[in-house]
Amino acid sequence: MKEEKNRIVFIMGVSGVGKSTIGNLLSEALGIPFFDGDDYHPKENILKMSNGQALNDKDRQGWLETLNDLAKRELQGQGAIIACSALKASYREILNRQIQKDVHWVFLNGTFEEIKKRIGGREGHFMSADLLQSQFDSLEVPEHAIDVDISLTPKKIVEVISNQLEKSVFGLFGLGVMGKSLARNLASRGFNISLFNRHVDGQEVDVAKNFKEEFAELSAAAPFDDVAAFVGSLQKPRKIMLMVNAGKIVDDVIEDLLPHLEDGDILIDGGNSNYNDTNARVEYLKSKNIKFVGTGVSGGEEGALKGPSIMPGCDPEAYQEVKPYLEAIAAKDANGLPCCAWIGKGGSGHFVKMVHNGIEYVEMQLLAEVFTILQGMGKTPDQIADILESWKATSNSYLLEITIDILRKKEGDDWLVNKIMDKAGNKGTGNWTAIASAQLGVPSTMITSALYARYISFYKEERMTANQNITPQQEKTLNFITEELLEAYQFARLMNHYQGFKLILEASNSYNWELNLSELSRIWTNGCIIRSDLMVELVDLFKTSENLLMNETIIQKLKNLKPSAKKVVAACVLEEVAIPNLSESINFLNSFTVAESSANLLQAQRDYFGAHTYQRKDDDSGKFYHTDWLND
Ligand code: 6PG
Repeated sequence: MKEEKNRIVFIMGVSGVGKSTIGNLLSEALGIPFFDGDDYHPKENILKMSNGQALNDKDRQGWLETLNDLAKRELQGQGAIIACSALKASYREILNRQIQKDVHWVFLNGTFEEIKKRIGGREGHFMSADLLQSQFDSLEVPEHAIDVDISLTPKKIVEVISNQLEKSVFGLFGLGVMGKSLARNLASRGFNISLFNRHVDGQEVDVAKNFKEEFAELSAAAPFDDVAAFVGSLQKPRKIMLMVNAGKIVDDVIEDLLPHLEDGDILIDGGNSNYNDTNARVEYLKSKNIKFVGTGVSGGEEGALKGPSIMPGCDPEAYQEVKPYLEAIAAKDANGLPCCAWIGKGGSGHFVKMVHNGIEYVEMQLLAEVFTILQGMGKTPDQIADILESWKATSNSYLLEITIDILRKKEGDDWLVNKIMDKAGNKGTGNWTAIASAQLGVPSTMITSALYARYISFYKEERMTANQNITPQQEKTLNFITEELLEAYQFARLMNHYQGFKLILEASNSYNWELNLSELSRIWTNGCIIRSDLMVELVDLFKTSENLLMNETIIQKLKNLKPSAKKVVAACVLEEVAIPNLSESINFLNSFTVAESSANLLQAQRDYFGAHTYQRKDDDSGKFYHTDWLND
């Protein structure tokens, strides 16, 4: 049994299509009141119409707003059925305002001839063929309506509508950790959802059914382990979010679903898919008339449940269809706006999520290096947590907060962190970011070095031997204070954010995605793993300049912090403390702020052995020169 939810059903279509008849019958069937929109016209409109004049958009504006108010009011009660011709998309937009997720559209669909015949047969009803034609001319057929053929009997029409209304508005495919959390999030916002998890004998049995029974908020959800029945349970156009592992399995799932889908249905891939795969899937599914949304979802299990940051990439029209659901479940920023926004076309959503993870790798690595340094200074995890606690005032972030919690966790007499094997895993997104930056020719050196730090960590046994052979353990003498370490950390974080957003900007230019960095940083201010006070600052900074190294505020900060960064890095290098990310931050800025670099020598070397030619500083025509280095 599905739980009944309040809803507004707008019945639309040209005059004479039978909106009132069907509205009344449906009202009886559903037990909710019916309102005829025509009864709500203001006096001026009635006068105009009775003088045989057609209403224009301006005349309709106030009337449509009145109907929207009526719908909002009725939603507080039992919900309602409202008849309104609503021929244009812009009219429907007004009727939908603020209640989109609770509105269902029914389009009574008939041909000109059919309606003309009906009207002719009705007593006291007269509408000229011209007037009817003008209605058809204005009609913009809705994309998301329950489309019913008026040649059916009224009883049958009401049955078709009732059946459709019973269906779920959204489907969740794949009930792993993230899928389950998103499902509960959707259900708790009042959406009627269908849940699917495959059946694997002895391993995955009744997963959806058992999951539904576990949580009260899922009492109205419909569980499935049969693809056809799952798809059949969804309102059209169907919206199905895939929460399966990235890679080939996404393609397999698409192939399983395709035979059951229809033109205009929408698939949303919420996994950490590679953006190149997403680009290809968009094109492939376009050829099948299926819309594909590749969306980044960040926030882990808890974020997915309470409000993740969501980064959907797709055609703008597809976004409009999934927007009510994705924005409803997303985290909210400080102004109450959803941390979900249309990113751009194709694989752009998955691209920015990939770079998000690259930035995440660096943010984590920097904290790990701070931990190494403070340990080298003889501090215990609790003492380090205390120091980091004091950093919250100027440098707070989600990752800083969880690091403090982690450092305080004890198991027996020792801290748990001391017992964890020092081999860092990864699922590939950092690796893809490094590949993408190399392919685009963008120096994302911090992401690459954070990635390599994880790879180095994995050589545990060789590291232990090398430690004995080359660098036996020794006392560290680090002559700087924790305030300087904090400044070095702040410096490196600025460089990390510069590099991450620069990569996104360059990709946006190369792929014509027209990404909005301010909006992107806004949706990263909450819900996601890299949310931080710095991210909040970037929202405004990106409004004036997309390149942080050209931004006066950032330039000033870097200048102020640089002395500490140099001091900390130099001391660590001398004392053989491994700080690949901190040192890369200063090395990168040193390279980037060199006006006359040694790349002239590189060009000469290339020309020497390979005749690759070079350009000259004293010739601004751009001409390429070659020198016979041995004989000229
Ligand atoms: C997030 C995380 C999430 C996950 C990644 C990173 O934004 O919620 O980035 O997507 O933690 O899988 O994984 P690895 O560290 O394993 O590469």
